[in-house]
Amino acid sequence: MRTTAKGLSMGLAAALAVAVPGAAAAKGAKAEAVLESKSGSSATGKVTFAQHDGKVVMKVSVRGLTPGSHAIHIHEKGDCSAADASSAGGHWNPTSAAHGAWAHPPFHHGDIGNLVASESGKAKLTLETDLWTLGDGKPTDVVGHAVVVHANVDDFITQPTGNAGGRVACGVVQADR
Ligand code: CU
Ligand code: ZN
Repeated sequence: MRTTAKGLSMGLAAALAVAVPGAAAAKGAKAEAVLESKSGSSATGKVTFAQHDGKVVMKVSVRGLTPGSHAIHIHEKGDCSAADASSAGGHWNPTSAAHGAWAHPPFHHGDIGNLVASESGKAKLTLETDLWTLGDGKPTDVVGHAVVVHANVDDFITQPTGNAGGRVACGVVQADR
């Protein structure tokens, strides 16, 4: 009796192991960026991405900022190695649009907007969008780009940067596995 039950559960586990890779590609993809301090700042944080039903939900949590508004963008290159994060390049812009405000075309795919840090330097932001995908390698794929937080506010007008100033935190978006 024990032997039968064990054999059954092992068979089930094997079936699940086969089913999971296909399901993960279709939905439920996740990614994360760990934000490290840049340009001599003390800002650090984490950004998570999860795809459900054709939409990506991004959750940002940053601490160590100066109080007030700070631009946050997704930049083209997944490279935060430079001390000033200049290695991350310009804003992620797969549609060759002008810089602008999120949901008010024209705007870059990476134009998330502004974080507002509290007096204690903490900021949170949640964004849900069908403009992005996760881990599919398409031009809309967030994975492999970099999340950058700036010293100043994004004015949504100045091209192509929003006049957001220096880069105080940077993290490469990496797929969870
Ligand atoms: Cu930026
Ligand atoms: Zn932009």
